[in-house]
Amino acid sequence: MRHAKPSTIYLKDYRVPDYLVDNTHLHFELKPKATLVKSRLKIRRNPAAGEGLPPLFLDGVDLILLSIAIDGALLSPEHYEKMPQRILVAVDKPEFFLDIQTCINPEDNTTLEGLYLSNGMYCTQCEAEGFRRITFYPDRPDIMSKFTTTIVAPKEYPVLLSNGNEISRGPCEGDHHYVTWEDPFAKPAYLFALVAGNLQHLEDCFITASGRKVKLQLFTEEKNINKGDHALRSLKNAMRWDEAVYGREYDLDIFMIVAVDHFNMGAMENKGLNIFNSACVLASPETATDATFQRIESIVGHEYFHNWSGNRVTCRDWFQLSLKEGFTVFRDAEFSADMNSRAVKRIEDVSLLRTNQFAEDAGPMAHPVRPDSYMEISNFYTLTVYEKGAEVVRMIHTLLGPRGFRKGSDLYFERHDGCAVTCEDFVRAMEDANQVDLVQFRRWYSQAGTPQLTVTDYFDETLGTYVLTVRQSCPPTPGQREKSPFHIPLKLGLLDKNGNELVLDGQGTTQCILEVTEAEQSFEFTELSEKPLPSLLRDFSAPVKIDYPYSIDQLLFLMSNDSDIFNRWDASQRLAFLALSDLQQAYRTGGVLQLQPELIAAYRSVLLNRDLEPALVAELLQLPSEQSIAEASVHIDAEAIVAAREFALQTLAEALFSEFRAQYTALKVRKSFSLSAKDIAERKLKNTCLLYLCATETADALALAQEQFDTANNMTDKAAALSVLINHAGDKQVNAAIEQFYQCWKEDAQVVELWFGQQSRSSRRGNLSAVEKLIQHPAFDLKNPNRVRAVIGGFAKGNFSQFHRSDGSGFEFLAEQVITLDKLNPQIAAQQVIPITRWKRYTGDLARKMKIALKKIMDSGDLSGDLYEVVSKSLN
Ligand code: BES
Ligand code: ZN
Repeated sequence: MRHAKPSTIYLKDYRVPDYLVDNTHLHFELKPKATLVKSRLKIRRNPAAGEGLPPLFLDGVDLILLSIAIDGALLSPEHYEKMPQRILVAVDKPEFFLDIQTCINPEDNTTLEGLYLSNGMYCTQCEAEGFRRITFYPDRPDIMSKFTTTIVAPKEYPVLLSNGNEISRGPCEGDHHYVTWEDPFAKPAYLFALVAGNLQHLEDCFITASGRKVKLQLFTEEKNINKGDHALRSLKNAMRWDEAVYGREYDLDIFMIVAVDHFNMGAMENKGLNIFNSACVLASPETATDATFQRIESIVGHEYFHNWSGNRVTCRDWFQLSLKEGFTVFRDAEFSADMNSRAVKRIEDVSLLRTNQFAEDAGPMAHPVRPDSYMEISNFYTLTVYEKGAEVVRMIHTLLGPRGFRKGSDLYFERHDGCAVTCEDFVRAMEDANQVDLVQFRRWYSQAGTPQLTVTDYFDETLGTYVLTVRQSCPPTPGQREKSPFHIPLKLGLLDKNGNELVLDGQGTTQCILEVTEAEQSFEFTELSEKPLPSLLRDFSAPVKIDYPYSIDQLLFLMSNDSDIFNRWDASQRLAFLALSDLQQAYRTGGVLQLQPELIAAYRSVLLNRDLEPALVAELLQLPSEQSIAEASVHIDAEAIVAAREFALQTLAEALFSEFRAQYTALKVRKSFSLSAKDIAERKLKNTCLLYLCATETADALALAQEQFDTANNMTDKAAALSVLINHAGDKQVNAAIEQFYQCWKEDAQVVELWFGQQSRSSRRGNLSAVEKLIQHPAFDLKNPNRVRAVIGGFAKGNFSQFHRSDGSGFEFLAEQVITLDKLNPQIAAQQVIPITRWKRYTGDLARKMKIALKKIMDSGDLSGDLYEVVSKSLN
């Protein structure tokens, strides 16, 4: 299973499969340590693959092979060849039935791929290559087969689920029973799912646009049954939305969601039987924050939307992953924008992209949206494939407009329904439906790296013409030195000196999309009476960095006048970045740290502006995170970043204390809980004020936090108060709050994870020792990815100041944890190691210490393929 050097797989080596599997019959006899899996595959030579009868390849990992037969005749070992992760079967006819029996061990399966046990419940995870841990099978997405599944289990597992419709059930000998499921849609093996357990369920129904009734069920352990309503409500909203916006109806009579505690990812779109990480589906006001409610809505939507963008039309091979993931992230983002505040959703997504995807693009694992090689596909479920992939789809939407995009998606679904296709097929459908040429646009799929735009302008007063000159370039990435120009939609508006938008043509248009296609290109606007101020890259119309020499005054002007809400926020961020960069410089040279009075005044006017929506005020008041400041720096000086941000926060908090206090008090009014956009925004603004107030560490402010902690009627307010206490109160008060919270919520897995995460992220000096204690806590479990993400991820990805302590202790700690984790769950180990793989961007000693930690992992012996790929590429 482990190998020092896994091999690299290339897109250019893709070949159609030699054999097709028309039908797959599976029969499971569930036992914790020895589950018997019998499969019967109806196999036929692929007419598209050429002549002759080559051997049949079947993938298989960690399986015990019991028997193999063709058309009922048992094969003796000379008819097949066993290789490390596959078998090769000799074939002498073009069509046959293949019967295979294997034995697997769900209880000891800590990889959480294939079939495993989570709190006594059997469940599966087959994407991307987990099905090969269940039985020998041609485990590739371009083999689509009709599945029937029979599950036999003791009656203590009353609920036995698989894909499609239940077609029979009944008793078996010895207190056992069985259920058989049939999925009428052909699907790749990665969409197979099985669940067996003692579960309760909630039930609802949905009537489709064409009048079909669909049964909706949500399964969970009994103790969580009160936490499923929000997910079911979100599901119905998603079903309605996909009909309204894409004209897509659900296609089976039943749709099931199951919550499991042990899960590597957020959720999985198995046909008719979505499996969710409990943290991404269960919520009640007392236990879940607003952010969690919104995440649930978007993930439920995301997995549901895959039924068309992923299941009905799937990927030909895993290089095409963004075909389903990028498109579906775009779909779920639009769904969330329609359900909540569009501007806030956009701001959140762009922050994530800039902070984390840009970092990926600038790091050792940089890859195009459609990668051209990989060692382990599970390392390519990245922000580039997902979030940048979604931006690429969004750019097509921007270029074609909503109607043109809909024509393209209709053609795509119609042409390719039931097929396994490529990103190229997606783009071609968009082109063909709109008679446009996206040849150059395709570079977004094949070239890695974040393009950089530099914009300059010139105004000719006598002629009244305004010329914008745009230069683009893209830095080299591993394996790609030179890049060709991208096709970039640059949305913009021009503002006059009163903040009004200038008309850009004869028809009253005040916003346009420049199509930037050359390395350097100029655009001319005529008949202007004054030099305008450009509002560039509105709504973040392309995933690029853009540079224009804005003055502080111009940014302040945009921040209060731009009609594009996104760009108002972006102006506030640019201002903060400028100030933080000056502060870093002062810190490094031993100068005096100072915030410009204009900046403080700008924050004051945002805070006092009663015309702005609370949601936007809360966003405008956020200082960029340390991580995003790091990402925007050429060389990352962690100590200077922490000092600069801390100074800015303190200075604003002290200068605007009474304004923050007044706003906090105004929003503090007690009212019954609701999830309306208005209430969510008000809670966010209130808790932003509380954070600034407590940054002063005054008794007065901390008393407010304590009072909110004691009296909150929802987890958003409670958790916000706990967080500021943990970061700013004295030891006694902190310990009391931590202990009280734990005693109250120790039975609730999701709240315990929140509690772990807040402590790991605490910026108190020397917090590593607290994190080391958390690892020893009885509720911590290295086999549970959510706990690992909360404690280890919370520290390495969410605690910039303490993780980057100059003694390197944070990196050493991470290396040790990753080495242990790799023996249990390679996917999670490879996810957690990421922060130290970006060592090259750090200054001096930190870079050296990160590299030492990486080498320690490399030299620790037998690495999994997942971890080996990430660590070896970052040491190159
Ligand atoms: N198909 C993925 C889940 C997945 C990915 C399973 C990789 C196994 C390996 C699913 O559709 C997905 O993308 N889930 C995301 C959440 C989504 C809202 C972006 C996840 O799990 O993080
Ligand atoms: Zn997905």
